Amino acid sequence: MAQDLADINDAEIYAVGSRSLDRARAFADTYQIPQAFGSYQELAACDELDVIYIATPHDGHYENTLMCLGNKKAVLCEKPLAINGRQVIQMVEESRQQQVFLMEAIWTRFLPQTHYLLDVIRQGMIGEVHSVKADFGFPAPYDPEGRLFNPDLGGGALLDIGIYPLFLSLLILGKPSGIKASAVMAPTGVDIEHGVLLNYGTNACAHLHATLRNQTRSEAFIYGTEGYIQIHTRWHEPPGTVTLVRRNERPVVKDFPDSSNGYRHEALEVMDCLQRGKIESDQLPHQFSRDLMELLDAVRVRMGLVYPQDQG
Ligand SMILES: NC(=O)c1ccc[n+]([C@@H]2O[C@H](COP(=O)([O-])OP(=O)(O)OC[C@H]3O[C@@H](n4cnc5c(N)ncnc54)[C@H](OP(=O)(O)O)[C@@H]3O)[C@@H](O)[C@H]2O)c1
Repeated sequence: MAQDLADINDAEIYAVGSRSLDRARAFADTYQIPQAFGSYQELAACDELDVIYIATPHDGHYENTLMCLGNKKAVLCEKPLAINGRQVIQMVEESRQQQVFLMEAIWTRFLPQTHYLLDVIRQGMIGEVHSVKADFGFPAPYDPEGRLFNPDLGGGALLDIGIYPLFLSLLILGKPSGIKASAVMAPTGVDIEHGVLLNYGTNACAHLHATLRNQTRSEAFIYGTEGYIQIHTRWHEPPGTVTLVRRNERPVVKDFPDSSNGYRHEALEVMDCLQRGKIESDQLPHQFSRDLMELLDAVRVRMGLVYPQDQG
């Protein structure tokens, strides 16, 4: 993100916050950032800032976001927006009450390849959409204390990477009427791998898979009555390649090269929203994040995955 912001004309990273002043200073030195703070509280209180990008582990998002919004600072918060739906509802309410911008940093939503596939679907080029199939997997070294496997930090494949296939299904098909999920648990009790099946009445279904123990193809397919769209590996990030296959026609392959790290697109959306005085993005509105977290919660119930944050 810091590298991408450096390439945006109207953006400036004015300050960075860390739990350690030494780490904040080291980061500030690397990216020529004028201010370094040794606590998140000091960063949230800094009057020079228009917006704060929160990139702490999942379990910090709720508290960090409420603190920033409470200090009247707009927030771009990494995915997942929080650990559960209850937290997301409170965060959205705080944004509305304070009239301060809040957006979940689902970078995939803003990539050119995503705009293209939505256009293709909107124009009816693959007909009526009947299914979405997506996966995301890589082997993560097992560290019971690290954020990927530690339940206290919201560990597990679902919140870290399973969120992407679920995001795609929600973007294209909306909220499902039926949800089935099954998971393999790590020794820490969080899911190391899971499968999710969603249905939308008789209209459509989604087949989703994520794993922290194997490299998978990490591709997405959207199937319709007139053809299908393939988003090539790794489908959720740039640069993108998308193939459109229509019945009885030659496949059309489109490349979406990207000289940025991919965070540029969401950053531009945040800047545009702030310039217009908006408190949410039309492309990724508060309701979308609420629906996505509701879906994640429902999948977790079926997996039997409970986090400490769910109590009370
Ligand atoms: N959009 C994307 O492409 C993308 C990619 C990767 C990750 N993410 C999201 O970004 C978030 C951070 O992921 P990450 O892999 O960057 O995490 P990370 O390296 O483990 O942590 C990022 C920073 O959070 C701070 N932190 C605060 N509380 C912490 C705690 N209890 N344990 C460890 N660090 C803590 C640390 O900074 P200080 O100690 O200096 O304060 C740390 O450097 C996650 O929510 C993840 O889902 C998004």
